[in-house]
Amino acid sequence: MAQEEQTERDAQRTRAPDDVRPAGQVSIMQMVAIGAVASLAGIALGLLIDWFPVQGSTQAEGIDTLYDVLIIASVPVFVLVMVVVLFSVWKFRQRPGEELADGPPIHGNTRLEIVWTTIPAILLVGLCTYAYIVLRDIEEVPAAAQRELRVEVTGQQFTWTFRYPGEGGVRSNELYLPVDRPVKFDVRSRDVIHDFWVPAFRMKIDAVPGITTSYRVTPRVTGDHDVVCAELCGVGHAYMRQRANVVTEQQFTAWVREQRGRAGGGGGAAGGTAGAGGTDSGAADAKGLFAGGNGEAIACGSCHTLADAKTTGQTGPELDAVLKGQSADEIRASIVEPNARQTQGFGPGIMPGNYGDTLSGEELDGLVEYLVKVAAE
Ligand code: CUA
Repeated sequence: MAQEEQTERDAQRTRAPDDVRPAGQVSIMQMVAIGAVASLAGIALGLLIDWFPVQGSTQAEGIDTLYDVLIIASVPVFVLVMVVVLFSVWKFRQRPGEELADGPPIHGNTRLEIVWTTIPAILLVGLCTYAYIVLRDIEEVPAAAQRELRVEVTGQQFTWTFRYPGEGGVRSNELYLPVDRPVKFDVRSRDVIHDFWVPAFRMKIDAVPGITTSYRVTPRVTGDHDVVCAELCGVGHAYMRQRANVVTEQQFTAWVREQRGRAGGGGGAAGGTAGAGGTDSGAADAKGLFAGGNGEAIACGSCHTLADAKTTGQTGPELDAVLKGQSADEIRASIVEPNARQTQGFGPGIMPGNYGDTLSGEELDGLVEYLVKVAAE
């Protein structure tokens, strides 16, 4: 008797509901049709969206084409999975009276498994090969005949500094590059991992403490491009943005000449205006430390604009404006405890809080003295 009940229950579970469902073939055709339309719409949308800024380097075109191919290949995969999931949820949902019903048990489908393993494998191998070829092309060393410009890029919380070893060691917080000349960036970091990225050039690479990473580009569009940090590196990460100016070869040469003139003239002017007694050299040292012109590990001017030191950093408050009327103690506190008191518009944590440790007592005294003097002028 119990066996009969069991059989009856089994029959109920596997029995097809009264309302007739379309045969499996019809469902698959419907899904394929919906999937094809949705894929085409997704690909069209993906290709229409303007993802990137101007193609500012000779490397950009190959990368953009790769990106488009990836969209064309990946959108249908995403759409296919979503269509099957949503279609199944809708088509095979539980209807009233089907609470005990179940589908037929299926154990494996060799043909299907071969198909869904082979197609992604072919797709992946194809895309990897293509990506590798593009990478090899854009990383190619330029012909020896072309003069390659070298730029040392240093990342630190939260600014980039650029040094031109072949142009007399000129340093700047703005990147200047001559158009149509290959450039090699040697990228370093002074603290944590950053990522040096000029979106218009498309290339980017991590700045990793302790090692030098590098890549090459050839800028081909003059004008201003963004330089950004593409690795979350602390509270001021979003402020780690500067400019890349791509100019003509003549403008670049003139800029280098101007920068070299500045570096030479700065110290002399400081000495001339310093007060009497033994503070002359101290003030010049502090100014050098502030501007970072001598390759110091700390350069206030990377982040702060100060006319006297000829710095133009934009990450922190403009000191020409905020220093006015501040006492020596207040200035000292702002350096060693930057988060205790903030300037409007600049959030906490942007300025590193460890200058009390990284600056020697002498350096700190010199900086305070120098800034007090500038504030009073
Ligand atoms: Cu440096 Cu993000």
